[in-house]
Amino acid sequence: HYHVDHATPENVLAAVAEKKTHPVIPEYRALDEYVSDGGYEELERLRTSGDWEDVQAKVAEGGLRGLGGAGFPSNRKWGFVRANPGPRYLAVNGDEGEPGTFKDRYFLERDPHLFLEGMLIAGWAVEAQTCFIYMRDEYPAVLHILAKEIEALEAAGIVQPGYIELRRGAGAYICGEESAMIESIEGKRGIPRHRPPYVAQIGVFDRPTLVHNVESLYWVAQIVRYGPQVLNSVEKNGRQGLRSYSVSGRVKNPGVHLLPAGSTILDIVEAAGGMLDGHVLKAYQPGGPSSGLLPASLDDVPLDFDTLQPHGSFIGSAAVVVLSDQDSCRDAALNMLRFFEDESCGQCTPCRVGCEKAVKLMEADTWDRDLLEELSSAMVDASICGLGQAAPNAIRLTMKHFSDEV
Ligand code: NAI
Ligand code: SF4
Repeated sequence: HYHVDHATPENVLAAVAEKKTHPVIPEYRALDEYVSDGGYEELERLRTSGDWEDVQAKVAEGGLRGLGGAGFPSNRKWGFVRANPGPRYLAVNGDEGEPGTFKDRYFLERDPHLFLEGMLIAGWAVEAQTCFIYMRDEYPAVLHILAKEIEALEAAGIVQPGYIELRRGAGAYICGEESAMIESIEGKRGIPRHRPPYVAQIGVFDRPTLVHNVESLYWVAQIVRYGPQVLNSVEKNGRQGLRSYSVSGRVKNPGVHLLPAGSTILDIVEAAGGMLDGHVLKAYQPGGPSSGLLPASLDDVPLDFDTLQPHGSFIGSAAVVVLSDQDSCRDAALNMLRFFEDESCGQCTPCRVGCEKAVKLMEADTWDRDLLEELSSAMVDASICGLGQAAPNAIRLTMKHFSDEV
């Protein structure tokens, strides 16, 4: 296993030639440079004379919504957590397991302190006693950077030793579900809890917990520093703000593309350098397998929160995978369900058995559409968490838009 920061052919070959079995650490803005650019001044100002409700109002004005994928208004979460008596905790979801999503990694490998300062501001706002960072273990360079920079923050006296606890995930997709993540932080097997109660009331070690995704906190730091206009001044197709689209598939320039939240699939493909030569856009996954597959004909919908509901999908973590006329949507959907079958935690029957049955039905030459629809309804209605509830999107959307293939 050779770990390289950006898997270009040159980097991979260089790592193999040098027999590097440790992560190659990319160039990033470390503490000294961040501080000399004015970093942590806002945190210091807030700690000495700040009012958390002013910051909450700024976050609301910026229109920041949870960028793990659910889009819940970030400022409201702060209010929910503050409404419960302390001690309180902050838990950062850095598990980034939705296939095709790599935006958190992108930001952490370049500017880890924007995230860390945002986390410390949110921790200050809810008076968190400890900040837990639950980080995907498949990101060795990120883990290295965070461990080093947290140590630097402690040495510089910006945080008390032990205030930030870095925890490694162990490769389970379900541990990105916030309550399963909390179980895992507590040292237990990561399986989702029933909601309510919400984690804002009963979270880590049964205490009120603010859970944020890495990128949400990255924007908190920028809103505090530059004002809400870093997000709300951008408008396109009636939508406000920016989205970090993780783009992969049949495009010339895959990667993270920061674009207006009102961007359509055509804008995103264009930003990613256009389609690969010889490929014609056929379908796209707007937000990871949980969001299923949409046809190329849906090319005028802004890919943002709330806009895809009428189409039976959602933007989620904005993991855009571009498929071409050379791809099979049927195979892609089957691949998605096999993923969910593997990753189902097995706690509830509709999801555990449902995913397995769906895979069997989708492996048949001809899909039994009625049975798949009945199964999808049961999974959506009766699964405990988002995994089982969202898995049928790939089935239903494929039957709707690519019926000739199934
Ligand atoms: P959700 O809508 O149930 O919750 C979103 C957040 O709002 C949670 O923190 C929840 O605690 C909070 N919340 C909602 N209602 C609340 C209330 N009444 N009181 C207090 N807090 C409340 O969504 P969920 O299941 O947490 O996330 C689903 C999304 O996650 C999907 O869009 C999916 O695409 C995305 N996802 C992202 C992954 C990634 O790698 N980034 C991996 C897997 C899924
Ligand atoms: Fe586990 Fe699936 Fe049930 Fe979620 S829906 S609790 S992943 S079995």
